[in-house]
Amino acid sequence: RIVFLNGSFLPIEEAKVPFMDRGFMFGDGVYEGIGMLDGRLIDNEAHLERLERSLAEIRIPNPYTRAEWTRFQEELARRNGMTEGFIYFQVTRGVAERDFFFPDDPKPTVAMFTQAKSIADAPAARTGIAVVTVPDLRWQRRDIKSINLLAQVLAKQAAKEAGAQEAWLVEDGFVTEGGSSSAFIVTKQGSIVVRPLSNAILPGITRKSLLRLSQEDGIVLEERRFTVEEAYEAAEAFLTSASNFVLPIVSIDGRPVGDGKPGPVTTRLRALYLQMAA
Ligand code: PDD
Repeated sequence: RIVFLNGSFLPIEEAKVPFMDRGFMFGDGVYEGIGMLDGRLIDNEAHLERLERSLAEIRIPNPYTRAEWTRFQEELARRNGMTEGFIYFQVTRGVAERDFFFPDDPKPTVAMFTQAKSIADAPAARTGIAVVTVPDLRWQRRDIKSINLLAQVLAKQAAKEAGAQEAWLVEDGFVTEGGSSSAFIVTKQGSIVVRPLSNAILPGITRKSLLRLSQEDGIVLEERRFTVEEAYEAAEAFLTSASNFVLPIVSIDGRPVGDGKPGPVTTRLRALYLQMAA
């Protein structure tokens, strides 16, 4: 398995990050994850744009241009023989003696790896998945794709222990998003409901594409917050993420959503997304 570290392609066993890296010591960095289908990166420009924004927000200089990022991503997928799966890349503030203040001359650490995975034909897309709701314990800048994922790790582990595959995070009674996905419901009238962008959620790239596709398809969009109770009563529910595209949710906190099977609106949106990505 080959990974990318600071400009080099290396066997993973040889890819070592120094002990004092601020990513390791402080979680001082940001990341991106992008889907690949049939050897093509999906929505890469949008992911690179979000990376630029995350880096700017925490004031880490972007080490590469978009063209360079793309070249490295494609080269890494090629070296690993991957045509379908997930590409992860992160940038930390680099190596420095442990001190909270930014180093004077930061040299960002860049790491990238691939995970081959069947996304288009994932079994979960046919069966749907279960989610459970847990309190959203994260910080107040969830729009930044920070590598600090402790709240998500705990939320998703709690979901797993409850027999679910994803956690829906809840603040003031409203669903913010999934532990690693954007959260949607479909009303009995067939409109889709999704929380508007703010500092409370990550601006999902798959969410953005999905909203464009749904609008082109004439599906009514209600961009507003929704409560857990409303989700229990919804006709359908689904999530979106770069590594799953669109996944039906068939139960929330052990209660079946609709008839407990992937619904027609979700199924149509997944098909439209796959068509777009293909
Ligand atoms: N997660 N919300 C959160 C909190 C996320 O971590 C993610 C992505 C999303 C969906 O965003 P996008 O559509 O851009 O992937 C929403 C990635 C896949 C991960 O952490 O593995």
